Amino acid sequence: MKILAFEVRDDEKEYFEKYAAKYQCEITCVPFSLTLDNLLLVQGYDGISILGWSSITAEIEDGLKKLGVTCCTTRTVGYNHIDVTHAHKIGLKIANSNYPPTGVADYTVMLILMSLRHYKQAMWRGHVNDYSLKGLQGRELNELTVGIIGTGKIGQCVIKNLSGFGCKILAYDMYENDEVKKYAEYTDLDSLISSCDVISLHTPLLDSTYHFINNERIQRMKDGVVLINCARGELMDVDALIQGIESRKIGALALDVIEGEDGIYHEDKRTDIISNQSIAYLRQFPNVIMTQHMAFYTNIAVESMVKCSVEAIHDLINKGTCATSI
Ligand code: COI
Repeated sequence: MKILAFEVRDDEKEYFEKYAAKYQCEITCVPFSLTLDNLLLVQGYDGISILGWSSITAEIEDGLKKLGVTCCTTRTVGYNHIDVTHAHKIGLKIANSNYPPTGVADYTVMLILMSLRHYKQAMWRGHVNDYSLKGLQGRELNELTVGIIGTGKIGQCVIKNLSGFGCKILAYDMYENDEVKKYAEYTDLDSLISSCDVISLHTPLLDSTYHFINNERIQRMKDGVVLINCARGELMDVDALIQGIESRKIGALALDVIEGEDGIYHEDKRTDIISNQSIAYLRQFPNVIMTQHMAFYTNIAVESMVKCSVEAIHDLINKGTCATSI
């Protein structure tokens, strides 16, 4: 069995070696994404493994099938970069990966606390020996209401983490979960939007969730609301975020993801001209924390992502099905 793995970082290589040995397969790792231009590279491979920046369109899927690839697995939980409907139609098998939700959940709480305590400004001051306190007075979680939108594995874990801080927790999801009800109160979306001091998104990116946070919803939020996004950039309309910060409606913003991050995040761009104006503009605000889509990035998650991907290709080829099949 031969696998071609795209977008492989150096820190993933030891795990590819480990699971190639375990599943008795030959794996070639390349650092770049799969595109129409380099599609011919897949010839001779049974399955491919990708990360979140290879956009697997219908055209690419047709090409994969034609070139003899039978399955494509993504080393990510989210699979909005894959045309799953078309893949099903042509019989190309697709699987995603899973990893414990704790890494992203912990990171979310860190961003909430950093935002509430003005940590970015404090850090900036420290760099120039400015040890003043003016403007850095924070707020305590125990007197605030936090709203969690999306109570899947990660949302649920954020809620459990937050339960130790004594804040009121409101939750919204189409599907209510009994475990969540131990720590949070489910409410309708409008109530959550209008009554929370902190709002964090944990939903997948779907047609129905694209620009879920838009101008109209921001206007209905509490003045000074703190918004957190460790899910997908496109869940928030970046222009609406800029407007919200400029008008001071949004008190603080912490984004591990942002619309238009593809091709920028996870790359060293120090000597490049970055053409994404929103990223550059938002980054300079003292109350906006931005990180490079790294909430997932822990030793436990990385190994699990590689393991799931290799295991899925092995199982799809040998058994016709796998635990993470989509
Ligand atoms: C995911 O697993 O969905 C992520 O966001 C990870 C990232 C490498 C794309």
